[in-house]
Amino acid sequence: MRKVLVVNGPNLGRLGVRQPDVYGSQDFEALCLLCKKWAQKLNLQVEVRQSDDEAQMVHWMHEAADTHTPVVMNPAAFTHYSYALADAAHMVLDAGVPLVEVHISNPSARDAFRKISVISAVATGTITGMGLYGYKLALEAVAHCVTPESRLEDTMEFHG
Ligand code: DQA
Repeated sequence: MRKVLVVNGPNLGRLGVRQPDVYGSQDFEALCLLCKKWAQKLNLQVEVRQSDDEAQMVHWMHEAADTHTPVVMNPAAFTHYSYALADAAHMVLDAGVPLVEVHISNPSARDAFRKISVISAVATGTITGMGLYGYKLALEAVAHCVTPESRLEDTMEFHG
């Protein structure tokens, strides 16, 4: 079973308590369980992590690059300014595996400082504004990227 690393940045361990009007009422534990359930259906083995520490997030990207493990990442506030994390994310892509950026809210529709993502420029793709369901879409995107047959099927469907 293909492993996927789901990495969450600062303050996401506070889901359920932190601005429920923006991030919903489900806590981080619920997110972990949902990701496991969704991953299983996609034949993926998921490991969900969270850190408030930029260095830790960078090291997790190094690990993903070295082990060729696809990544789903919600970089949280690091999204908007961490060139270190963007460089580390680039190494994951350089290792030939997808990295899908996900945001629970739609940062573009919020404060001005959230309109910039330094991660989007290096990510395989980005999913925003869909709540926790965005992680399901991100896992599906990873499954799509790592399964050549599914890519072929989608292309055939697209062409009718
Ligand atoms: C977030 C959006 C970021 O702007 C914010 O700093 C977060 C969470 C999201 O999931 O919507 O912490 O990444």
